[in-house]
Amino acid sequence: MNFCGTTKINSDGHLEIGGIDCLNLVRDYGTPLYAIDESCIRKACKGFKDILTEQYPDSSVLYASKAFCALAIYKIIQSEGLGLDVVSGGELYTALKAGMSPHNIYFHGNNKSSNELNYAVCENVYAIVIDSDSELDTLNNIAENKGKIQKVLVRVNPGIDAHTHRFIQTTRPDSKFGFALSDGTATEIIRKIYAKKNLKFIGLHCHIGSQIFELKPFELAVEKMTDYIRLLNKDYGIEVDELNMGGGYGVKYTDEDKPLKPQEYVSAIVSKLKECVLAKKIKAPKLIIEPGRSIVGEAGITLYTVGSVKEIKGLKKYIATDGGMFENPRYALYQSKYSAVIANKASESKYEKVTVAGKCCESGDILIEDIDLPKTESGDILAVFTTGAYNYSMASNYNRNAIPPVVLVNNGKSEYIIKPQSYEDIISRDAVPQHLEKANK
Ligand code: LLP
Repeated sequence: MNFCGTTKINSDGHLEIGGIDCLNLVRDYGTPLYAIDESCIRKACKGFKDILTEQYPDSSVLYASKAFCALAIYKIIQSEGLGLDVVSGGELYTALKAGMSPHNIYFHGNNKSSNELNYAVCENVYAIVIDSDSELDTLNNIAENKGKIQKVLVRVNPGIDAHTHRFIQTTRPDSKFGFALSDGTATEIIRKIYAKKNLKFIGLHCHIGSQIFELKPFELAVEKMTDYIRLLNKDYGIEVDELNMGGGYGVKYTDEDKPLKPQEYVSAIVSKLKECVLAKKIKAPKLIIEPGRSIVGEAGITLYTVGSVKEIKGLKKYIATDGGMFENPRYALYQSKYSAVIANKASESKYEKVTVAGKCCESGDILIEDIDLPKTESGDILAVFTTGAYNYSMASNYNRNAIPPVVLVNNGKSEYIIKPQSYEDIISRDAVPQHLEKANK
């Protein structure tokens, strides 16, 4: 594995991140622990933002919050000049608390509640991305009651086959996201928006899937979206001011992954868009992209203490960690692959094949299947790479395990950005009805 960001093997033969020996992080914070490299996030933000601004000035990069939503992450995103894509009231609340301007926030979701829509309108969120017929009336009524005109985009399904896991593909014909371009549903919705007094249609959105390594699907999506813009112009006299191409740029989990640089994804989308604008004689829309995983994914590692080591003769050797699907459900959900090292034996080169298990009561609670690691013993520290995206954000208290804390590391310094959860925290929202309380007395 060639390491990302500041991750390296130091002179003691230990893994280091952000200028700190991982064993010192474990000594200071315990395990399991997520460590996030600030400089790596900043570099990724610049990778997208600088090139997009240079090649297509009328543009914005929105960070897709779902990858990792936390106050400190938003502070970094804001200082790098990115806007935000949020998909829930909770993400919006966090963003506003972090001081993000609502004018840089787009609200997504295939089933936003009326409370969420109300909250977004009250807080002057810049645009709502419409993804269901039923939210049109609700949103229009809310905007009318507040005396506002709410800007909206429409999420469409351009029907692109992106090569990625079925669950993170989003433009299959039977996807729950977006309105189909092919059968006129999208146009019907846009025309309905035009009939609503308090909604203003400003653009189109699509997101073709996640962890995509090829340029072709993105280029194809630009083709389809601009074809559709031309159709709206010609047949309905509808202008499209903004074109949001979503996210989906792949990152490196293992040596098999060959992600492109942010610059390459951006350049491909921009050149295709410029070409299509000229060829199809349409107005150049504002271009928006929404990277999530590629902003925070490679910035993260997770540190674990190895507990039991169990060999099933002739079959498998398990090393069990103090983490598991409660802090990284991605293997259980998508059979995701990860690479890892033993942080205290990072320069050893003799390997054996093991399977890394978690501590949950599930056979499927695996973190990495069949990985080559140095001979591992109880007490060793395992470091799993590329856990910055969709790990903390998808963590749960399954089996009433505590969600691990997160430390931000940079230039030899570390600090909590998510504090540890105590057992008291875990039960803090439990409530016991009076009759049960009495029954036990
Ligand atoms: N925009 C929209 C509308 C999205 O739905 C998503 C991701 C993104 C942007 C950001 O995509 P990214 O650049 O991160 O690929 N839990 C899954 C990933 C689900 C992604 C959902 N939407 C995983 O762990 O792989």
